[in-house]
Amino acid sequence: MSIRRLPPELINRIAAGEVVERPASALKELVENALDAGATQVAVRLHAGGLELIEVADDGCGMTRDEMRLSLERHATSKLPADAIDRITSFGFRGEALPSIASVARLTLESRVRGADGWRIEIDHGMPGGEGPAALPPGTRVKVEGLFDKVPARRKFLRSPRSEYAACLDAVKRLAMARSDVGFTLDHDGRRILTLAPAEPPVRVAELLTHELDRHGIGIDCAREGMRLTGVISLPTFNRGVADQQFLFVNSRPVKDRLLVGALRGAYRDLIARDRHPIAALFLEVPLDEVDVNVHPAKTEVRFRDPSAVRGLIIGGLRHALDEESGRSAAREQAAAPVMWTSGADFPLPPGEGQRGGEHVNGLDAHEHVFTGIEPVQPLPTPGPSLVREGRRLFEPAPAARAEPAVEPVPSFPLGVARGQVAATYIVAEAEDGLVIVDQHAAHERLVLERMRAAREGGAVARQALLIPEVVELDEPDCDRLEAAAADLADLGLEAERFGPTAMLVRSVPAALGKTDAAKLLADLAAEIAELGGPMSLRDKLDHVAATIACHGSVRAGRVLSVAEMNALLREMEVTPRSGQCNHGRPTWVKLGHGEIEKLFGRR
Ligand SMILES: Nc1ncnc2c1ncn2[C@@H]1O[C@H](COP(=O)(O)OP(=O)(O)OP(=O)(O)O)[C@@H](O)[C@H]1O
Ligand SMILES: [Mg+2]
Repeated sequence: MSIRRLPPELINRIAAGEVVERPASALKELVENALDAGATQVAVRLHAGGLELIEVADDGCGMTRDEMRLSLERHATSKLPADAIDRITSFGFRGEALPSIASVARLTLESRVRGADGWRIEIDHGMPGGEGPAALPPGTRVKVEGLFDKVPARRKFLRSPRSEYAACLDAVKRLAMARSDVGFTLDHDGRRILTLAPAEPPVRVAELLTHELDRHGIGIDCAREGMRLTGVISLPTFNRGVADQQFLFVNSRPVKDRLLVGALRGAYRDLIARDRHPIAALFLEVPLDEVDVNVHPAKTEVRFRDPSAVRGLIIGGLRHALDEESGRSAAREQAAAPVMWTSGADFPLPPGEGQRGGEHVNGLDAHEHVFTGIEPVQPLPTPGPSLVREGRRLFEPAPAARAEPAVEPVPSFPLGVARGQVAATYIVAEAEDGLVIVDQHAAHERLVLERMRAAREGGAVARQALLIPEVVELDEPDCDRLEAAAADLADLGLEAERFGPTAMLVRSVPAALGKTDAAKLLADLAAEIAELGGPMSLRDKLDHVAATIACHGSVRAGRVLSVAEMNALLREMEVTPRSGQCNHGRPTWVKLGHGEIEKLFGRR
């Protein structure tokens, strides 16, 4: 076997394998270069999702002829002036994006510094393709054509122009959010897609996220230990089936970091169903020496010196904001209430259903067809479980409903006084300002979970010792993880110790879990620690387990309640945090204001 040094073209192609995965990654590198060059305006043109053409033009500092030649060489960069790899403030620093792209496409680089003439250099799949004068305004224009045309292995993995375009749009959006002070345009196949004027960060974010966030967003601004988190997140009830609207930034760099994504998910845990995702644009600022950006060739991941501090800031900050707004999620549903009574198309559907253009918003935006379906005298369809059908049935004597006489005056409880129960599932209450309907199962499930959580936070986690300690076999890394987290687990009532290289001995489990499959619990916990890292996730995990138990231990739909029981439930809901939504992010109650009722009867 003879060892040899690889030729530069091949080295570049190997690097391209990491840096340029698809058109969107080449585009990202080019836009980042434009921003690093001090551009105030960046114009992007794409054809066929970037497969045929990616062009990025900027009005930045430009390059001289010599600089242009150098820029196409590997490991040539202007961005590490003092070799300070630990204090990076630019997007680029590796000096390999341009030569990598040029090795797998036809690349035309045109540039002009102020006060000089422009120049053009072409590279065809790593080979010089000619040079000459170019006419362009000061700045730089890079054209990439036929990406991967000669790299069949890579070409095979590309998707349709449509999905490549979607990835390109996403890349531009992320960078446009990162640098709201810069203007952007994006054209695809000759059509103008985006025009963004320089703006303040919140304005830019609002332009690029769904405008619904004006009503369903929560502003975030919190700080801890020299770090600061700002941005916007969606209310739990405003969620999506895919996690494609989560924009995360560390010191203005767009990242797709597992730690941050995990922390975001952790903050919403038990407020949102597992397969639903919040919308978020979050900007984390940390001191430069707290973060290493040089951990991934595409620079989309970072490593924090103190990951648990970062997790703590994010989960703590978001959780606090979500708690503050916990009444709002449900109260917001008021606006949608008339629709729920009439059309039914929009009211709380099981996760995965009821998506309207991707967003799952209970009944929102449906005002245009308010009232269209109201037909109180029409024969009813077969009774079903949904609130809407039950709502219609309210107009007829329902067998399970038991009425309480209305007494004057109505005491001023936010959720009112129970007047009866419908279909042994919903509590109907009269409040000063309207009619309240509560889903008794969803509400009770929430209350049980919050009680369990309060007990835990008060340090009173009851544990249940196993009569015979149980040996659980796991693979070695899993045992290592559990062993490292043993102290935290013990705090949560789970006592487990190492029992040989590939086994753990479980001495006690949280009493709240009742009879439990210790092996499955440990395996799940180990997987969770591996995925999310840090002790926080264990708490989250137990929250999740607790939520499942809460569901089993709750007042079932279908149980007839006494008026006293109903009122007790309403009063407890009023004083329990996060009681406006069930553990799956659906509302636990809705209110029809007096005005809405009057509208329903045509009195207004
Ligand atoms: N649009 C541009 N305007 C001005 N100079 C540019 C532009 N694009 C690239 N350059 C110059 O070319 C150099 C090489 O660019 P390249 O993207 O290959 O590497 P980099 O940005 O330094 O690092 P990275 O590989 O991490 O992106 C840059 O350091 C910069 O000096
Ligand atoms: Mg670069």
